[in-house]
Amino acid sequence: MAPSAHNISQNNDLNSHGRYYVYSFIALILLLIARSIYQILASPLRNVPGPFLARFTRLWELHAIRKHDNPTLNIALHEKYGPVVRLAPNRYSLNSGEAAKVILGHRNALDKSNYYRAFSQPDATNLFSEPSLKVHATIRRPLAQLYSQTTLLSYEPFVDTCNSILLKRFEEYAENGKILNLREMMQLYAFDVIGEITVGSRFGLMEDAGDKSGTIEGIDQTMAYAAMMGLVPEWHSWVAKMAKRFKLHPGRKILNFVDYHLDNRISGRTKSPEDRSDFLDKLLLMEKEGKATRFHTKDAALSNIVAGSDTTAIALTTAIACLSMNPNILTALRDELDAATVAGNLSEPVTFQQAQKLPYLQAVILEALRIHPAVGAPLTRVVGPQGLQIAGYFFPPGTEIGVNAWVIHYNTSIFGADAHAFRPERWLTENKEERAVLDRNFLSFGSGARTCIGKNISLLEMSKVIPQIVRKYDFEIRPNDKGQRFSWSTRWFSKPAVNVVVKKRSQT
Ligand code: HEM
Ligand SMILES: *[C@@H]1O[C@H](CO)[C@@H](O)[C@H](O)[C@H]1NC(C)=O
Ligand SMILES: *[C@@H]1O[C@H](CO)[C@@H](O)[C@H](O)[C@H]1NC(C)=O
Ligand SMILES: *[C@@H]1O[C@H](CO)[C@@H](O)[C@H](O)[C@H]1NC(C)=O
Repeated sequence: MAPSAHNISQNNDLNSHGRYYVYSFIALILLLIARSIYQILASPLRNVPGPFLARFTRLWELHAIRKHDNPTLNIALHEKYGPVVRLAPNRYSLNSGEAAKVILGHRNALDKSNYYRAFSQPDATNLFSEPSLKVHATIRRPLAQLYSQTTLLSYEPFVDTCNSILLKRFEEYAENGKILNLREMMQLYAFDVIGEITVGSRFGLMEDAGDKSGTIEGIDQTMAYAAMMGLVPEWHSWVAKMAKRFKLHPGRKILNFVDYHLDNRISGRTKSPEDRSDFLDKLLLMEKEGKATRFHTKDAALSNIVAGSDTTAIALTTAIACLSMNPNILTALRDELDAATVAGNLSEPVTFQQAQKLPYLQAVILEALRIHPAVGAPLTRVVGPQGLQIAGYFFPPGTEIGVNAWVIHYNTSIFGADAHAFRPERWLTENKEERAVLDRNFLSFGSGARTCIGKNISLLEMSKVIPQIVRKYDFEIRPNDKGQRFSWSTRWFSKPAVNVVVKKRSQT
């Protein structure tokens, strides 16, 4: 008897406590809802249109970019809702060339948003992820000369080495007739080039015919992680801690690669050939002269490898696929290359200087970069303490706003009614003002102080390798099961899927 009575009374006790907790919980939820309704009603951004759920939760965007291709979704949202769209309660996408200039491009542009935090370890920032423009400038200043126009030419021999290996691989495929995953090959190529330029050693991926060490996979995982975690950056430090505990650190392989080559170079175990000096040589010299620190050396090497391979591979794949799908454009390019070769203006290997004098080639490169920007997510910044009046709205301090290169590049009032078409000729207009509009709104490399630092290295690679490929090979595209010749999927990067059969160029 006694025990059961005791039990009963305890149960009652629990019940009343339980009810108390439930009521408090409901009250708290109501309070939070009331607060968010109040914030929504009081916000100067309450009239910005967008998906219904995006008003209340960041989970809408997190879900949407997993389910859909980010650039396709981003473009569709602007078509539906207009030039300013809400992506999350405090995150907006803008479709306006002027806005891109103000938030990315101006001297007093905005700081990067916390979105980028997920691209580095939680306890550190780097060149790419550092939010503050001021701090960023101190990281970037000493590195800039490594990517400058004059230093650029010192990287040519590295590119030549990799170009000849790539052509050998294409020759094999032309002989065996096997189906080739073009983007994968271009990725192996771009990886090897950036390995050569940065640490004087290829990953050897092209010859190994694959990512045996899992380095590319490591980068893919890191980027997929960052593109998601960037939407909920305050989870990053916690998730990264857990991942470390479970020894999940996809970026580790890249770090190891850099450390290994750095140690070898410092200890004198490796030395660059006489005719070349790579990033490590240059950076270690700068360290000696007190112009850079070990932080800069490691940061530059790492960011080259992470930021410089997928991107270039995507652009090269797009260029070759678009040329193959547009025979007239391919013919026009070949005419230019053949005439230059006959005139003695184009040697083997092609030099960067020669390639820069070929206007149609340069237009093809720009157009490939425009029609398929490597970065598929909006480039986001955070509004400063003054707030920002732009595109018809006042954005309060702390609002995250961004511009997606895809959105601008497919905007027909900027790039014309044929914005969706691959048409290199648009870059060859005689009208200087028309060309200036294209240049000003070309966002594949970003804009302003945070512009891609490797832009010229990548243009050097593309300028040299495309003529050499196009001179010798044709690519027959094999559609996928859905009949698509060119498809892609996006995490941070929009990586194309293109299968081809390589043929020796038909002589006509
Ligand atoms: C077609 C090739 C490339 C494309 C389309 C591309 C695109 C971009 C974009 C859009 C940004 C700015 C992102 C932002 O505002 O958040 C960026 C930054 C950066 N890229 Fe590239 N990139 C390419 C090649 C390269 C190469 C070859 C390297 C290195 C050798 C490189 C290294 C970097 C670095 C270090 C940053 C950060 C710069 C900073 O914040 O100061 N990229 N890139
Ligand atoms: C395209 O850009 C123009 C000018 O920047 C802007 O007015 C227009 O709304 C944009 N288009 C869309 C669909 O947002
Ligand atoms: C790339 O080269 C151009 C000149 O062709 C130069 O104006 C620009 O500053 C260079 N970019 C970088 C990031 O060094
Ligand atoms: C070859 O180069 C010279 C000097 O730059 C130039 O005048 C000529 O038009 C070029 N010819 C061809 C066919 O590219």
